[in-house]
Amino acid sequence: MCGIVGYIGKNKKALNVLINGLKHLEYRGYDSSGIAYIKDNSLIIKKTVGRINDLEKIIDNDDYAYIGIGHTRWATHGIVNKVNSHPHKCKHITIVHNGIIENYQELKNKLIDKGYTFKSDTDTEVAAVLLEYLYEKNNDILLSIKEFKQKVSGAYAIALICDKEKDTLYAIKKNSPLIIGLGKDENFIASDVPAIIEYTNKYITLNDGDYAKITKEEVFIFDNDNKQVNYNIKTFEGNASEINKNGFDHFMLKEIYEQPAVVRRMISLNSVPDISRYKQILIVACGSAMHAGLVGKYLLETYVDKPVIVEIASEFRYKKLFIDKNTLVIAISQSGETADTLEAVKVAKKHKCRTLGIINVPESSIAREVDYVIYTEAGSEIAVATTKAYIAQVLVLAKLAYRNCAIKDLKEINNFQISLKKLPVIMEEILSLDKKVKQIAKVLSKQRDIFYIGRGIDYAISMEASLKVKEISYIHSDAYAAGELKHGTISLIEKNTPVIGIVTDQKIASKTISNLKEVKARGANVIYLTTKELDSEGDFYDYKIIIKNINPLLDPILTIIPLQLIAYYVALERGCDIDKPKNLAKSVTVE
Ligand code: G6P
Repeated sequence: MCGIVGYIGKNKKALNVLINGLKHLEYRGYDSSGIAYIKDNSLIIKKTVGRINDLEKIIDNDDYAYIGIGHTRWATHGIVNKVNSHPHKCKHITIVHNGIIENYQELKNKLIDKGYTFKSDTDTEVAAVLLEYLYEKNNDILLSIKEFKQKVSGAYAIALICDKEKDTLYAIKKNSPLIIGLGKDENFIASDVPAIIEYTNKYITLNDGDYAKITKEEVFIFDNDNKQVNYNIKTFEGNASEINKNGFDHFMLKEIYEQPAVVRRMISLNSVPDISRYKQILIVACGSAMHAGLVGKYLLETYVDKPVIVEIASEFRYKKLFIDKNTLVIAISQSGETADTLEAVKVAKKHKCRTLGIINVPESSIAREVDYVIYTEAGSEIAVATTKAYIAQVLVLAKLAYRNCAIKDLKEINNFQISLKKLPVIMEEILSLDKKVKQIAKVLSKQRDIFYIGRGIDYAISMEASLKVKEISYIHSDAYAAGELKHGTISLIEKNTPVIGIVTDQKIASKTISNLKEVKARGANVIYLTTKELDSEGDFYDYKIIIKNINPLLDPILTIIPLQLIAYYVALERGCDIDKPKNLAKSVTVE
């Protein structure tokens, strides 16, 4: 994971650009950070454990620099401490790195044999030392990068400064994202557009194997065959306001409230493909994207009438597979950079499957790898816990189910377009349940465990609701298929244990309500989430949340909203760092 940024130019103070850029990349990792820059002909490195705010405190704001590189870390090799944080320097070479050097131990042993010593436990320092060794031999950075790429396996996005070439930045990219931002008399390197959008919306996406030499006036890009290549300049169409909180206390709350607008934008979303020729559908994804896939499984199986398998991407990669050209593999990913999902797509392609991506970030690695991509158009999502990107993924899957429906005379199918237009207004109504949600969140925030139960599609939604609350509030939480509870987990129910029952499907509502009665009888504090249509009175719950329902294909988008709000307010009540939960990162570019 990790975020990297680089600046060279004469218009700005490099330190400001680096700090600002890193703040916008903190979603990629935030356990420690550092910068390197050239001041009065000497290379200076500042690094610290903690957030970018902590780094800012140790930097001398009066330091003027025209060139620098910066890094925000999510530790992989070596504990979180100052020594392991980036930049890493070996004599003339200083680098920041995102990714994992897989053969670092073997390289390290060889470099030790040659007399080099190491201060940190990181794979990145090995990359820095190897580059220095090659540079000493060649006295030529580009040649050294070429040889470096031959020796190193794994994933790396690297920004490099050589203190013998004080007017040049270098960048290297393989399997980790890296862009070059283009300005007038200034250029940038970044892991992602938000780091540079305040300065330029013109950028180049490096391909795997590419490397670049960057001065303030010029950019030279070399491909995997070491040939200098022309490049496409892209324009980022979003705007800088997307990366600000706009009056909300947290990005997560802002993004929850942006959901109706996301749906409005996506109503006119262009075509979704005809998938009728495939015998089965296989969805690969991680985290919440995988949960969106589980909702999709119910919708596609019910309406498209085909078997759908959902695989966690990190499991799919290594198991025996029964897929071929008759299987459509759908990869779902907000970032489009999740390493396991990207590799899963590559595995699927090797099995001759067609691949469809449901991706939020344009031009991301997965978007470029799949045969066909549908963009979710949720806009930039900053909070680590996904909300608006998740509902956008579910909406695409609902559209796919509608477009490919095998049972044409269903009421919900006939009404789909009308329901879709009404959806944002109903979402806004649900967002106004805020007060009720806060009251429930206050009670939940004092608990040790929170259980979620549901059947069918409600079980899939329970899983996402449970992940949301645990990832940001650090309360233990699990989701169970309601009927499964009595096969073990019910033994955990004590007086006041919170159980949130999600009941939105009429066919199985009475069954889940029976399960809620079972836990109520054992002392649970039951929160019953249901629809206006299914609302039933009884003494089996302590709190009730009623939401409008509109169309079974779209209802999951409504159901999750109060549950996202519950997670948010539970975390707020507990004083957690909501947008940057501990140990997590938004874009998981390591296996
Ligand atoms: C991380 C994020 C999750 C996300 C998952 C998959 O764990 O914290 O919110 O669901 O990665 O990410 P992707 O970008 O592939 O959707």
